Amino acid sequence: MGIFKQGARDGKSGGRPPLNRVTAKVNDYSIDSCRLRKVQAHMGFLRLTDIPLAGKRVFIRADLNVPQDDTGQITEDTRIRASLPAIVHALKSGAAVMVTSHLGRPTEGELRSEDSLAPVAKRLSELLEQPVRLITHWVDGVEVKIGEVVMLENCRVNRGEKKNDESLAKKMSALCDVYVNDAFGTAHRAEATTHGMARFAPVACAGPLMAAELDALGKALRNPARPLLAIVAGSKVSTKLTILKSLAEKVDQLIVGGGIANTFMLASGLRIGKSLAEPNLVGEAQMIMDIMKSRGAQVPLPVDVVVANELAAMARANRVLSDAVSADDLILDIGPDTSQKFADLISKAGTIVWNGPVGVFEYDQFAAGTKTIALAIAKAKGFSIAGGGDTLAAISKYKIADQVSYISTGGGAFLEFLEGRQLPAVAILEAQAR
Ligand code: 3PG
Repeated sequence: MGIFKQGARDGKSGGRPPLNRVTAKVNDYSIDSCRLRKVQAHMGFLRLTDIPLAGKRVFIRADLNVPQDDTGQITEDTRIRASLPAIVHALKSGAAVMVTSHLGRPTEGELRSEDSLAPVAKRLSELLEQPVRLITHWVDGVEVKIGEVVMLENCRVNRGEKKNDESLAKKMSALCDVYVNDAFGTAHRAEATTHGMARFAPVACAGPLMAAELDALGKALRNPARPLLAIVAGSKVSTKLTILKSLAEKVDQLIVGGGIANTFMLASGLRIGKSLAEPNLVGEAQMIMDIMKSRGAQVPLPVDVVVANELAAMARANRVLSDAVSADDLILDIGPDTSQKFADLISKAGTIVWNGPVGVFEYDQFAAGTKTIALAIAKAKGFSIAGGGDTLAAISKYKIADQVSYISTGGGAFLEFLEGRQLPAVAILEAQAR
């Protein structure tokens, strides 16, 4: 999922990551080469800022998969802005710069106008204040001068990209001296530009955005300040079951929301009326609560909820105690007492991981729970990290982007990291650094 992908054609846009922080991180990574080995041992991969680039051909795989409206206008350019530090660093270091990305999920071998990176190249050129030439056929050779940035057309149009074809990866690697993966949003995909190229390029390293994302997520999950609190919300337990199980082993409090919370309420013997839930996963929900309990950790369930008879813009909302939900009710938000209880937990947390709004926040009468959570995160002293499409939309709606410690540009990649899975694009960078 992820708003960047889902909204790519429907004009939905996400929140804006606090780019000032991304830039700050970039500066943190400007280390001198004598510290290189230490850093490598610590993080396991090379970083762009550790590599001499003067006179080199640098190939940057970015994630510029941004939302566009029906006319192709970019409606949200966060990913383009977040990709600037790598490009600017390479330019300032005296490199010839090639940048590519996927846009959507085109059919290989076909370039339809809606799949073209042309609007992205234009936006990048505005941000860099220099021309960015778009090259359509580039696999067999690219002419690029020192100080120039060229954009290589949608890499997913090349046959063999998605299947990580070895001969395609070899050809593309031959275009460069240094391969940079800065596409955290696509790090969960093993494709020719995210994985194969790292195997064959003379040097393979992580760009500053990739490094900043991994650093922030690692800080939140590998060595967190305690208590570690996670908020995981969404319509279905089934889509987030692996994340819930993985977090159940680590976090001190796991706040569940939306349809996921309804399934947990069912598991606790509460009635949920007509609310969205997955009764077949009640056993799994119970198991997660048991794991948490055995570690002295908690899954705090709602004490009150906001219900309605229908999910509609004009639906009348009622607050009821969670043991008083009637057969006709749909639970569409957490109640004010629950919101306050969760806000208190957030204020005491050392680390907060947020994925998913706790109610149908698109409608005002069911938005109070998500708003309270968002504002509590904004005020919290702990380190907070947020990601996922709907979460970014909530962050944008409540204007708290500057108060969240780190907002991930990843949709699926962010979720897979939370699941504890190894991201293939990161694994190969680590393998190449060994
Ligand atoms: C995203 O929007 O989540 C990334 O750009 C990855 O896109 P994909 O799911 O099409 O690989």
